[in-house]
Amino acid sequence: YQEGEGGIAEALRLARHFAGDDKIVVILGDNIIQKSIKKFVDDFRKQPGGAKIIIKKVDDPHRFGVAQFKGDKIVSIEEKPKRPKSDYAVTGIYMYDNQVFDIIRTLKPSGRGELEITDVNNAYIKRGQLTYGVLEGWWTDSGTFDSLLRANTLVAKDFKLHNKCGADHDD
Ligand code: G1P
Repeated sequence: YQEGEGGIAEALRLARHFAGDDKIVVILGDNIIQKSIKKFVDDFRKQPGGAKIIIKKVDDPHRFGVAQFKGDKIVSIEEKPKRPKSDYAVTGIYMYDNQVFDIIRTLKPSGRGELEITDVNNAYIKRGQLTYGVLEGWWTDSGTFDSLLRANTLVAKDFKLHNKCGADHDD
């Protein structure tokens, strides 16, 4: 249990006993996705070490961590940049090997006073050990009233589609 708002990386540090020597997948509780991430996790299992992130093209990248590319390689990630260098947001789904806990130990709090998961990802980029996958289907966070509404609408639409409910069916 994380006390206060020390950042995602600080929260992750608390999971060390749970991870043991294994690789881990981290999913932020307010991130909701439509499609499976199985293929990315399978790829990461085969990856000798390092990290893998999942990115998604969005209309409002400045709200997120944003990938900067050279060719098809991610060369840095900027946290909530005023002028995003691409339209690809870093989703709240991350895969790490066990080095992550040593990396977290080296972090300093950011301007917002948190240990940033973006700094963890940039550390893996510096080591040449970060891969990525592009998420299919929709992705939304639900940490604001607007995004919570959006999340509910997306899930409701999918539910209706799959259950062939009428538009005014209220079950
Ligand atoms: C966090 C990360 C950010 C990422 C986002 C995904 O943002 O810092 O890089 O794009 O989650 O939901 P926060 O929720 O801390 O603003």
